[in-house]
Amino acid sequence: MIDLHTHILPNMDDGASSAQVSAQLLQMEFEQGVTQVALTPHYYGRRSVDEFLTKRKKALDSIMQYVPKEMKVIVGAEVLLTGVNDPTDDALCALAIENTKYVLFELPFQRWRESLLERIADFIEETGYTPIIAHVERYVEALKNPSVLTYLAELGCLIQVNASAFLDKRMKRFAFALLKKGLVHCIGTDAHNLENRTVDYAEAKCAIEKKGMLAEWNGIQWCMQKVVNGERVLLPCKTVRKFGTWYF
Ligand SMILES: [Fe+2]
Repeated sequence: MIDLHTHILPNMDDGASSAQVSAQLLQMEFEQGVTQVALTPHYYGRRSVDEFLTKRKKALDSIMQYVPKEMKVIVGAEVLLTGVNDPTDDALCALAIENTKYVLFELPFQRWRESLLERIADFIEETGYTPIIAHVERYVEALKNPSVLTYLAELGCLIQVNASAFLDKRMKRFAFALLKKGLVHCIGTDAHNLENRTVDYAEAKCAIEKKGMLAEWNGIQWCMQKVVNGERVLLPCKTVRKFGTWYF
């Protein structure tokens, strides 16, 4: 199984605070059956991409000794896009998941400007890269108007939901509704630490299985395997259906 969104690299952002914490998080991933982990520290554009990549390499080197033998780690970034002063296409491509044309985008938690959706559409058209929209269940804009996720999927984006969304009391109805609509393409723990934002992968799988949605779970794994292999994911159109306002 694959975890496509984590903050396990130490001292990069608000994630793991030391290599020891990283080691424990990696061990938890492994014990929960995850064999491929994408390390995706935040990129907020406060430093140059080159500086970020150098720092990320150092952080990766510091934890390689703790990666279980049967596990593969790959690097990427969670890049904030707002629609204003965003990184250039070249910078975004340099921040893609290792050896792929997939980039993990974090969008604003509050209102989205129209220029944001235009920026995403331009990026796809200009580069041929595929955005993966991180933890969509956390965006007010998506909760108020889930059709915007259909729009993003139709543009060619993949939709990522956090494992915790399938467990959280307030969030799970929304997460399962997305799953039913075929609007969950990737899953990630978004693990930051050992306390409140930790590795809850197995628990999420269990919750999805309990709802009789193992086929959907397997579909997500298939999709993520394509992503980490750097292969193109062509989603059948019928999986992307419009649905109305979500009341929560
Ligand atoms: Fe994240």
